[in-house]
Amino acid sequence: ERGNYRHFMLKEIFEQPRAVADTLEGRLAGGRVLEEAFGYGAAEVLDGVREVQILACGTSYHAGMVARYWLEAVAGVPCSVEVANEFRYRRPVVRPDTLVVTISQSGETADTLAALRDIKARVGSRALAICNVPESSLVRESELVLMTRAGPEIGVASTKAFTTQLTALLLLTLALARRNGLPAEREAEYVAALEELPRRIERALELNDAIDALAADFADKHHSLFLGRGPLYPVAMEGALKLKEISYIHAEAYPAGELKHGPLALVDGEMPVIAIAPNDDLLEKLKSNLQEVRARGGRLVVFADTAAGMDDGEGVRTFPLEHSHELIAPVVYTVPLQLLAYHVAVIKGTDVDQPRNLAKSVTVE
Ligand code: M6R
Repeated sequence: ERGNYRHFMLKEIFEQPRAVADTLEGRLAGGRVLEEAFGYGAAEVLDGVREVQILACGTSYHAGMVARYWLEAVAGVPCSVEVANEFRYRRPVVRPDTLVVTISQSGETADTLAALRDIKARVGSRALAICNVPESSLVRESELVLMTRAGPEIGVASTKAFTTQLTALLLLTLALARRNGLPAEREAEYVAALEELPRRIERALELNDAIDALAADFADKHHSLFLGRGPLYPVAMEGALKLKEISYIHAEAYPAGELKHGPLALVDGEMPVIAIAPNDDLLEKLKSNLQEVRARGGRLVVFADTAAGMDDGEGVRTFPLEHSHELIAPVVYTVPLQLLAYHVAVIKGTDVDQPRNLAKSVTVE
């Protein structure tokens, strides 16, 4: 039930601290990730993994894109990510020591299922499903399973499924990282960051009223750009997808460094540019990209770490987020983008929970 919330989507956005906490429940102890979480025999399967191939669609694909940064930087495991509807129609090279990771809220997405079946039949790879529905086809057909515990997601626009997928993917990252020499004290530091995540999401939700007030500036726009760098680039993609799906405003995401290779030509006062700026080692680069936008008269909205040294100014609105550990920043910065898409859609009067032309679960190919 929706309770006091006007839409399921808003309720589900606000459920995220709880959903993420549930997804972590019983899976961390003594500064370590507990491998039993991945199912019976998981340790032996994980020992043999030399590469990861992630397959998913839509929002779940964006979660996979974020995870690629983590798996390579933190776990040192080569990782490819592809939308299942492309992967399954080419002849991709997958080796037997590749772990195939499917990500799906519903566990019934036809393309994701078909890609998994194909790869199992052709290569016999080991497979892990990250899924939100225990009785789904994907779960039944996967050797290892890591359930997200978001609870039922009713809104067609996926929100809590995404942040819980990211949480599960962080558990996978740490389980593999340990095998590649991640020192125990580092793992303990990352686990502490994970344990803080529900609280950080709660803090990000406090921006709700300020974002609601901002949304009016978007309602008459036809286009928008979302910028991020590193693992925040796929978060920008997810923010753009949310705005497209429910407010019907054309939104594109770019890694901020690509701006000058083309999209900068689009920037003018009618094209809002949304940037996410945690205080990471790409911050200075991002700031100079944003300067390029300002110099073309672009209007910027920046979600930034309080320590990032970004302030409001002519054509720039800044929304501060308190500092989060770099590892969890992609999860935290997702939240204001969900809220932005939601409030813009409400102003536009669209059917937020059931956007036109879309289905919650895409069971056709
Ligand atoms: O159930 P799945 O996670 O496999 O669904 C994949 C996509 O269809 C889904 O994420 C879709 O993109 C959502 N409408 C995004 O909000």
